[in-house]
Amino acid sequence: MKAYYKSSFNKSVNSIYGDLPDPVAGEKQLLIEVKAVSINPVDYKINNADTRFLPGAKLPKIVGTDFAGIVKKAAEGSFEFKEGDRVYGAVPIFLGKPGSMAELLVTDPKNARHIPAAMSFEEAASFPVAALTALNGLRRCGVTKGSRLLINGATGGIGHFAIQIAKAKDAFVTASCSQKNSDLAKELGAYVTIDYTAADMANIAVPFDAIFDAWGQMKYKDYSQLLKKDGTYASPLILLAPPFVTNLIWLFIRKKITSSNMRKRPEDYAEIEKLFREKKLKPLIEHIFPLEKAAEAFEFAEKGRPRGKVIITF
Ligand SMILES: NC(=O)c1ccc[n+]([C@@H]2O[C@H](COP(=O)([O-])OP(=O)(O)OC[C@H]3O[C@@H](n4cnc5c(N)ncnc54)[C@H](OP(=O)(O)O)[C@@H]3O)[C@@H](O)[C@H]2O)c1
Repeated sequence: MKAYYKSSFNKSVNSIYGDLPDPVAGEKQLLIEVKAVSINPVDYKINNADTRFLPGAKLPKIVGTDFAGIVKKAAEGSFEFKEGDRVYGAVPIFLGKPGSMAELLVTDPKNARHIPAAMSFEEAASFPVAALTALNGLRRCGVTKGSRLLINGATGGIGHFAIQIAKAKDAFVTASCSQKNSDLAKELGAYVTIDYTAADMANIAVPFDAIFDAWGQMKYKDYSQLLKKDGTYASPLILLAPPFVTNLIWLFIRKKITSSNMRKRPEDYAEIEKLFREKKLKPLIEHIFPLEKAAEAFEFAEKGRPRGKVIITF
């Protein structure tokens, strides 16, 4: 099968588009013919060999997390999926497991969901990592009707989903993005936009109930001034401050600081799918590349400042 994979953990050795042996599914696994994958920052961290020291790292390492495709062989004795079903999901990327950027993917049924009717393979591949991370971020922020919410990095993979989900919850969204993406943020559902490249974030007058920092790297001195008492800041990145520091900040300054990873429970996927069916959530697909142009796709995803998602199709 054709795949895009790392053959070396040496940072100067580029990933390869080439042939690897077809994978063989175990009795309880699915064999999936992959139709589309999306690129997330974690994928280019693997592509750049930044994750080579993580446990279980082994070569060749197929890159990729999100996938959408068709079941070629169902798990024996399972009635959940059958041959020909359209499925999507995200595969675990660590512990030596293969990624999704290959014509064939073997994975456990727990990593797959049926693709809802009217959702294309490209759309399905856009959702898992970014939309589920956005959903969990807003949950950690406690966003509900009328919440005054700032979303930072609002037109990227996570951010563009976060605006739409927050709007569906009737939150009052302020989006921080670059000037060129201001109109897009408003189309997605933001009431107000801030240009993060120009504005001094600390001078914004409105105190927010919550800040979801989809970009993940806001400075404490900036976001703490924007949060009202008992407000929450959530980031999808590991917090630099250790828990005892964030606990002290909560105790004495009454600002909650939390990290919000992707959560992929069935009820989370169901919430995303419901919003999609209700036409309240739609991926913005900036560019679609064929698998043989995966290197170009990665270059664009990492350095081209795409809005929404970058997709690779097969
Ligand atoms: N923990 C988890 O489970 C998890 C899951 C998914 C992602 N993540 C992490 O979350 C981060 C964002 O992921 P993503 O998929 O949304 O990435 P992305 O698609 O690259 O989007 C990043 C966004 O950040 C904006 N940005 C860049 N510099 C900024 C700045 N100085 N201030 C404010 N915004 C800025 C970009 O806007 P412009 O292009 O307009 O500059 C872009 O909209 C990544 O670091 C990723 O590794 C974590």
